[in-house]
Amino acid sequence: MPESFYITTAIDYANGAPHLGHAYEKVLADVLARHARMSGRKVHFLTGLDEHGQKVQQTAMKRGVTPQQLVDEVAVGFREMLSELGISHDDYIRTTEPRHRKVVQEFLSKLHADGLIFKDTKSGWYSVRQEQFLSDKDRDENGAWPEIYGEVTQTTEENYYFRLSQFQPWLIEHIRSHPDFILPRFRQNQVLEFLKEPMNDLCISRPKSRLTWGIELPFDKEFVTYVWFDALTNYYSAVADKGLWPADVHVIGKDILSPPHAVYWPCMLRAMGIEAPRRLLVHGWWTIDKKKASKSAGNATDSLSFARSHGKDAFRYYLCREMVVGQDADFSETSFNGRYKADLGNSLGNLVNRLLNMVGRNCAGVVPAPAADEDPERSVRSLWADARRTYDEAFAEHQVSRALEGLWTFINGLNAYIETRAPWKLAKSAEPADRARLDSCLAHVSEGLRLVGTALLPVMPDTAATLLRHIGQPVPSDFGSFDWSLAGSGVKVAEKCILFPQIDPPPAPAA
Ligand code: MSP
Repeated sequence: MPESFYITTAIDYANGAPHLGHAYEKVLADVLARHARMSGRKVHFLTGLDEHGQKVQQTAMKRGVTPQQLVDEVAVGFREMLSELGISHDDYIRTTEPRHRKVVQEFLSKLHADGLIFKDTKSGWYSVRQEQFLSDKDRDENGAWPEIYGEVTQTTEENYYFRLSQFQPWLIEHIRSHPDFILPRFRQNQVLEFLKEPMNDLCISRPKSRLTWGIELPFDKEFVTYVWFDALTNYYSAVADKGLWPADVHVIGKDILSPPHAVYWPCMLRAMGIEAPRRLLVHGWWTIDKKKASKSAGNATDSLSFARSHGKDAFRYYLCREMVVGQDADFSETSFNGRYKADLGNSLGNLVNRLLNMVGRNCAGVVPAPAADEDPERSVRSLWADARRTYDEAFAEHQVSRALEGLWTFINGLNAYIETRAPWKLAKSAEPADRARLDSCLAHVSEGLRLVGTALLPVMPDTAATLLRHIGQPVPSDFGSFDWSLAGSGVKVAEKCILFPQIDPPPAPAA
């Protein structure tokens, strides 16, 4: 039985259009899912939409539609994004689906019956805009409420609370004893720091007088459950009847690590007697002009147009190469065009055409068998060994940018190898030893490209498949033939291959 691999992304809020941040996370998870499939694991890849809450209710009201109509419309846009980016998810969960509602209500009933959810009255400062109670910790250095909270008033309200604080000692121990629970590791410290302070119990409801667009509490019809209790449960509700729990990786952004995913979620599961997920993979933020890409930033939606103009695979490559998982990265047209031209067009695209030209001109389009094995060939093979090691190690830690960096060192090494061997000179020589060198050079470049094509399948699935077909190679569905083997010899290659066409810049606006 193949080992299973259950991977999820955050479910996106249904109160706006998809943007760069959403796109990146789905691409990253997709690359990991495709890599795991090629490694022989039985993958289940879940993504979806977070559809309840105040903001959806308000937006629907403003637009004069029902919340359900609104989220149905938004879901179309998000699913289109997934298909435009070539995301290979196995399931898409929407929190308004009955299968989700049922599990949330089961969780709520059990925790209520076990005394882990209780009713309480709270008075305090309340932000109308953010729909949340505030504490003095939320004030700025001058003691005022920051602008993001809008109008802040004194309010008293009855609500239901989850006994989160009870699980604090267990959680600290769990994080300490599972050093790979939160990756990259530096993010763990942020969580342990948060856990130094005693935690409050978690408010999990809203009275229907204020919010109707949510899942009703099974033990009190006057309330709906609020935000995290609903949203986090999607990871479990989607596979409740599939025997796939625990999740192997939850891919999330840094803004929703602590407390939601690192604190609420493991404690909720613990309270239910369910195992914690194995890993939280936390990525940073895409910024545009150094500001977080978001719905309100507007241009974050425009950035998705690069997937249309330059192809989804080039866009996927850029996102994966430019962002070190865990750190922030800045998106710009200049950096996108730079990578498209240099990494993709010049280094990789030209290399493929150099091979096809040389094999066409000197060997009637059939890759020759290697006949010489000298220092340059040995160094190409050793460069591949390095790239392969980096690739495997980087993927083990989900560091896709490092895997790609290693791969491009190898691609550049193949280009340098061609310069060293100068096959155009060897072809003119009458020496049999030079003919042997020429054949070896073409065989080595072809083998190198076969391995590059294989390595790129998770990141650029269609482009890598096109590359492999043009060099006469099958498109593998696994990493079974991912070692240096000179498998290319004897195969017929295509005449030419345009992987990354030159894209004309858009016309300058009329003066
Ligand atoms: N609905 C919640 C998540 C619930 S998960 C049980 C939510 N939605 S969101 O739409 O605001 O964000 C969805 C994901 O996109 C989050 O992981 C978030 O970190 C990520 N991104 C949103 N903007 C981002 C960037 N600018 N850059 C990278 N990712 C960011 O949070």
